[in-house]
Amino acid sequence: MMKKRNISPATGKLGILTPGIGAVSTTTIAGAIAVSKGIGKPVGSISQLGKIRLGKRTENRNPLIKDSLPLASLDNIVFGGWDITEDNVYDAAKKAGVLDNGLLSEIRDELEAIKPMKAVFDKKFVKNLEGDFIKNEATKMDAAYALMADILKFKAENNCDRMVMVWCASTEIYVEESEIHRDITLFEKAMEDNHPSISPSMIYAYAAIKCGVPFVNGAPNLSCDIPAFVQFAKDEGVPIAGKDFKTGQTLMKTILGPGLRSRLIGIDGWFSTNILGNRDGEVLDDAESFKTKEVSKLSVLESILEPDTYPDLYKEMYHKVRINYYPPKGDDKESWDNIDIFGWLGYKMQIKVNFLCKDSILAAPVVLDLALFIDLAQRAEMKGIQEWLSFYFKSPQTKEGLTPIHDVFQQKIKFENTLRHLMGEKLINYLGLDYYEED
Ligand SMILES: NC(=O)c1ccc[n+]([C@@H]2O[C@H](COP(=O)([O-])OP(=O)(O)OC[C@H]3O[C@@H](n4cnc5c(N)ncnc54)[C@H](O)[C@@H]3O)[C@@H](O)[C@H]2O)c1
Repeated sequence: MMKKRNISPATGKLGILTPGIGAVSTTTIAGAIAVSKGIGKPVGSISQLGKIRLGKRTENRNPLIKDSLPLASLDNIVFGGWDITEDNVYDAAKKAGVLDNGLLSEIRDELEAIKPMKAVFDKKFVKNLEGDFIKNEATKMDAAYALMADILKFKAENNCDRMVMVWCASTEIYVEESEIHRDITLFEKAMEDNHPSISPSMIYAYAAIKCGVPFVNGAPNLSCDIPAFVQFAKDEGVPIAGKDFKTGQTLMKTILGPGLRSRLIGIDGWFSTNILGNRDGEVLDDAESFKTKEVSKLSVLESILEPDTYPDLYKEMYHKVRINYYPPKGDDKESWDNIDIFGWLGYKMQIKVNFLCKDSILAAPVVLDLALFIDLAQRAEMKGIQEWLSFYFKSPQTKEGLTPIHDVFQQKIKFENTLRHLMGEKLINYLGLDYYEED
């Protein structure tokens, strides 16, 4: 038996705060409340349904993860958040149009009781959005302090023991990392000076870390993925994770890609296009917000296929990703992938994938799991980047200079072995030496 890691218990209430009360966050909140009332199943949530193999296969030990580690229970969660419009969670969920009215009316009272706090927002970073429920502080540092006051007030009013923050707000425009993002002292000075390269998502991340609150970034914008915050989070003993929830098309890509690569099937081209009609799609209709998403979506194949190791198979691959805003689709995104592959002696073949998905239905269990696992990390004193949570991200945040792992199967092994490590169980390497050692 390995040494069990010291993890403080999940006593009291966990507050989950989301910047952004939109389609993803309201689907998460309504879903978690419905599940805790027994009127819905948490399909897709590993924290709620996932089991984990412990020991040898012959031992038949497959407990629920939540029975083997001290995760916060759904009955002990309080939700809150910020938005640029004043809609409570019930009204925002109705507008998002993801969940049916019947379900929403069953939990209407609980949802109406969750009202957003005024957002820190800057239209320069999200061009296709309008709102008037916005803080009006003189400097970005003042805005951070206003958010910190919100966090502490929420914690006290809701009698929370611990808090986590998960960014579920709109994708911001692409920001290049610059000098001020490399050092926390420079960053703080730049906040006082209202530096244009500090986006609202960075101000939220700063406020969270400064309050000792773990921060997860569900969108592709930089936010906590800057060296200044990596060090800051370590210094403050706070776990951070990002970026960009891995849900529809990219999840499929990181399932299919490793399969093709494992059998050394060559790829000439991978064309991915999407149509979606929700507000996320509208925001991504702006070229600068799309650029942030495009970088995140494009990055996944490189580390899976390793074109430098297999130049004949993958070096010339043409990878293109498109997102098209098409209002009639609502949250029902449709994606197409056309994959031009080649096999033995270079003979060409094609794979077509047409995925009719519901973006927020896929994202909600990811938000819940990330909130619960990053809270666990905090109680296990795991500070800084939580690379084991890469499993949930399109563009996993890693240590500077490290290539992120995108292969969903490798990510799952890392995730599960981290859980085994936290439980003090043997890590599983699938070697199976018994075959050759038994008489
Ligand atoms: N749904 C998915 O499968 C998926 C996958 C990966 C990433 N994401 C990302 O998750 C985020 C949320 O997606 P969604 O579909 O819920 O979008 P949405 O437009 O329905 O919700 C986003 C909300 O954020 C609010 N907002 C914008 N800027 C804000 C700020 N500075 N402070 C507070 N609120 C702010 C908006 O008013 C809106 O209500 C997006 O960035 C999206 O790219 C979603």
